Amino acid sequence: MSTAGNAPRGSAATSSSGDDFVIGKTFLIALSAAMGGFLFGYDTSVINGAVAAIRTWSGAGEVLLGFSVASALLGSAVGAWFAGPVADRYGRIAVMQIAAVIFLIGSVGSGLAWSIWSLTALRFLGGLAVGAASVIAPAYIAEVSPAHIRGRLGSLQQLAIVVGIFVALLCDYALVAAAGGAEKILWFGLEAWRWMFISMAVPSVIYGVLAGIIPESPRFLVSKKRLAEAADVLRRFVGNKPPPQVKIAEIEHSIDRENKQSLRDLLGPAAGLLPIVWTGILLSVFQQFVGINVIFYYSSVLWQAVGFTEADSLIITVATSVTNILTTLVAIALIDRVGRKPLLLIGSAGMTLALGTMAYIFGTAPTEMVNGALVPVLPGQAGVVAVVAANLYVVFFGVSWGPVVWVLLGEMFSNRIRAYALAVAAAAQWVANFFVSETFPSLASAGLGIAYGIYALMAVLSFIFVARAVRETRGRELEDME
Ligand code: GLC
Repeated sequence: MSTAGNAPRGSAATSSSGDDFVIGKTFLIALSAAMGGFLFGYDTSVINGAVAAIRTWSGAGEVLLGFSVASALLGSAVGAWFAGPVADRYGRIAVMQIAAVIFLIGSVGSGLAWSIWSLTALRFLGGLAVGAASVIAPAYIAEVSPAHIRGRLGSLQQLAIVVGIFVALLCDYALVAAAGGAEKILWFGLEAWRWMFISMAVPSVIYGVLAGIIPESPRFLVSKKRLAEAADVLRRFVGNKPPPQVKIAEIEHSIDRENKQSLRDLLGPAAGLLPIVWTGILLSVFQQFVGINVIFYYSSVLWQAVGFTEADSLIITVATSVTNILTTLVAIALIDRVGRKPLLLIGSAGMTLALGTMAYIFGTAPTEMVNGALVPVLPGQAGVVAVVAANLYVVFFGVSWGPVVWVLLGEMFSNRIRAYALAVAAAAQWVANFFVSETFPSLASAGLGIAYGIYALMAVLSFIFVARAVRETRGRELEDME
């Protein structure tokens, strides 16, 4: 896999403009891999605009409908789990290409679904690809990036995720506007909600094509003893510092080729997982348990429930998603300067305050019966404070836990266990995402104050966890992560 660029071999990185050249190339490669993040964001958020129409079309009850929506998250957990072994066996690029094909089938298939069950199965299938992409992007990006900009390049995945969320929102909106309703026929006798799924074919084809152009990870090539190819990729994309031969020797050493890798490598000398694997799992779980996706998956419903009009709710949802994109850019500027750990700590502290404010406002607001459910009524001022707090929460998440967790998962494990450990941690993240999304409706009916109170508590625990268990990785070489 060496089609990427007809760059003058070996000439790069010998001067500072050579360095720029290498960094530019690496940036493009990281961006291509990050396309997987775009599919991730798009797929998890596109469903929002379709749910109501699917309810009418299928006649499914809430439980079945909820399961159908959540099936993609479960598929992602499974996909994340299997991506590790496949990536170690057939390579990082192969995983991206397989994911692109499965994603294409899943998205067009979901758009043509003939029953709620077929939709559920096809969403699950698409989820497999999303989960795999969520694992392979951070691993691949960390493996091709020079240490001093690895955080910035790794954050491109989160940028792609949040842009994906945003674009899906706009697409849903445009399709509904064009058809005059999600349940109305748009083109070729298919309703607008079906086109929401079919539209995902475009990014999946782009992803597949880009995956065919970028080079295989040098760390994978070394593990397969394809040393000449590895040297070539290192020279062209990582630069000559340290020289490729030295780098390869380091990689070889860190891979410890005597040991065939397996899930068993994640176990420590005593029974149980290695502490570092637990750290990865907990980072993942806390990233979800602070409730971020409740904001993204339920925001329109939330804002309408507390008295904003449908149009206002849409504006708030779009604003939140733009906030998320902008703050990710801030994180990209900071991550390699400030480091991962300080960002996580600032994020946890800020999220605690914002979530605490939301819990207080929702918890103390008077309630009213709307459509058979008790919802808090936020009088003018309190409504504004709640919206501001929700956006501040997204700001703190966006500069910290959003990107940093994905960066850390890509870089914190040693070469020997990376693919497996990352797969396990990412699978845990998808399960946690599923759990939070599934429990929010019941928590919310018990009281939004309770729901946000729990997320605030999680933010406090995440602070303590980071302070005690997370080690800074800024600037360190992947080969030093033992
Ligand atoms: C992170 C989370 C993802 C969430 C996104 C929102 O990428 O992993 O679940 O949707 O942030 O910014």
